[in-house]
Amino acid sequence: MKHYHLGFGQEDLGTNPPQIALLSGEPERSRYLAQTYLQNVRLLSEYRGLNSYVGYLANGKSILVATSGMGAPSLSIVVNELIQVGIKQIIRIGTCGSIQPHVQVGSIVISQGALCRQGAANDIAPVEYPAVADPFLTVALVESAQKLNIPYHLGITASVDTFYEGQERIKSSANPRLQPWLSGITETYRHLNILNYEMESGTLFKMAGVYGFAAACVCAVIAQRTEAEDIVIEDKELAVKRCLEVVLASLQE
Ligand code: URA
Repeated sequence: MKHYHLGFGQEDLGTNPPQIALLSGEPERSRYLAQTYLQNVRLLSEYRGLNSYVGYLANGKSILVATSGMGAPSLSIVVNELIQVGIKQIIRIGTCGSIQPHVQVGSIVISQGALCRQGAANDIAPVEYPAVADPFLTVALVESAQKLNIPYHLGITASVDTFYEGQERIKSSANPRLQPWLSGITETYRHLNILNYEMESGTLFKMAGVYGFAAACVCAVIAQRTEAEDIVIEDKELAVKRCLEVVLASLQE
């Protein structure tokens, strides 16, 4: 049966079906990842921009590459259907904004857990339910970053629903007026030793706990929110490439 949003079903995954999915927010990143790093790649679907591919690592491991779209509601649908086609491990490869001066643009953040301020997650588990990464996948990512000498940070991520209001963007937003409780939230998070803002990992981690699969998240740092609101577009390619290399090295054994 083809799943409505993914556009493919378990029967499309062949005789050596993947148990690992690499999940990116952008369809272009999914395509690049599949075409650059996998062998014998097959396009599974391009429905709604949720591009999915299946292919193999050099060690013969079967890998599914999927696209979550932006934000937790879209991710929750994709993840739900990925589990239904037999996926047991999901590694999110995303982008983020740093909220600590020492977490610099171009580096990568590996999330050990998330502060989850996401409505979609509340439909899946109580708000107090922990949003934690799988320790084994996470340690493997850290070890790969160390081996490859890639600048990385391991810590807590703030996973929120909105890029503008929820991440306290005012100057670059159509809405210059924040709700009072969001004014100063970035500074509050900085004092709580939260490393970065992104928009998907909290719900992914809670789903992993509830559904019983393993999840991890690595994000390329493309904004320095202690200095500015803007995305530093010229450093994005390098930071994303670092994430991809760390993830792929963690899967080679
Ligand atoms: N993604 C986010 O959610 N925030 C940023 O600042 C950059 C990428």
